[in-house]
Amino acid sequence: MPRISDPAPEFVGQSTQGTVNFPSDYAGKWVILFSHPADFTPVCTSEFMTFAMMTEEFRKYNTELVGVSVDGLHSHIAWLRTIRDNMDFRGWKNVDVTFPLIDDVSMQVSQKYGMIMPGESETSAVRAVFIIDPAGKVRTILYYPLSTGRNFDEILRVVKALQTTDEFGVATPADWRPGERVIVPPAGTMDVAEKRMSGQEDGVECADWFFCTKELPEDTIENALQKK
Ligand code: BEZ
Repeated sequence: MPRISDPAPEFVGQSTQGTVNFPSDYAGKWVILFSHPADFTPVCTSEFMTFAMMTEEFRKYNTELVGVSVDGLHSHIAWLRTIRDNMDFRGWKNVDVTFPLIDDVSMQVSQKYGMIMPGESETSAVRAVFIIDPAGKVRTILYYPLSTGRNFDEILRVVKALQTTDEFGVATPADWRPGERVIVPPAGTMDVAEKRMSGQEDGVECADWFFCTKELPEDTIENALQKK
């Protein structure tokens, strides 16, 4: 299976939106490739409705969604039609899933991406999330078991954190949200450490020489990320 910073494994898949050449169809975009165990199951239905409701929010950050499961294309089509025509979750109704859902009956994608965890299930994928950058490199991997629905706000938070790191050359602390202080790269010399600790680096505050933060206003981040 791929690891963080590896190139995303390539595949060609049939989806509810036609043929997908992955990741080349998404060159220049961020993409979230995520697996679910089975169509017509309740946790997966709640997840698909949530992701579908957030599709436009992800697009603001140049991010596209691609789902995959070991069910076939006709099952996928029937399930997405049922979601649109019959489902009501959190008051959401008539939810159109417009991102591709890939038929992986052959398990070629699930196997390549390490989405099958035999201890959990031999025949279906766990809930995996791969966040892939515009250069086709895997930047984050998240795994959840069959019984636990994912936190989609967290997935969006990670996308924003990765993009903020790339754009501004900073790291983000625990539970960071845009607008909160960010972590400046560690001092590489005694001299820089000394300057930071004596308050000589503009806007940088240090709890100790290795733990220094600065302000990065939310509108600065949003302007930079949403224009991309
Ligand atoms: C569900 O999506 O509800 C589900 C799928 C597989 C196993 C358990 C729950």
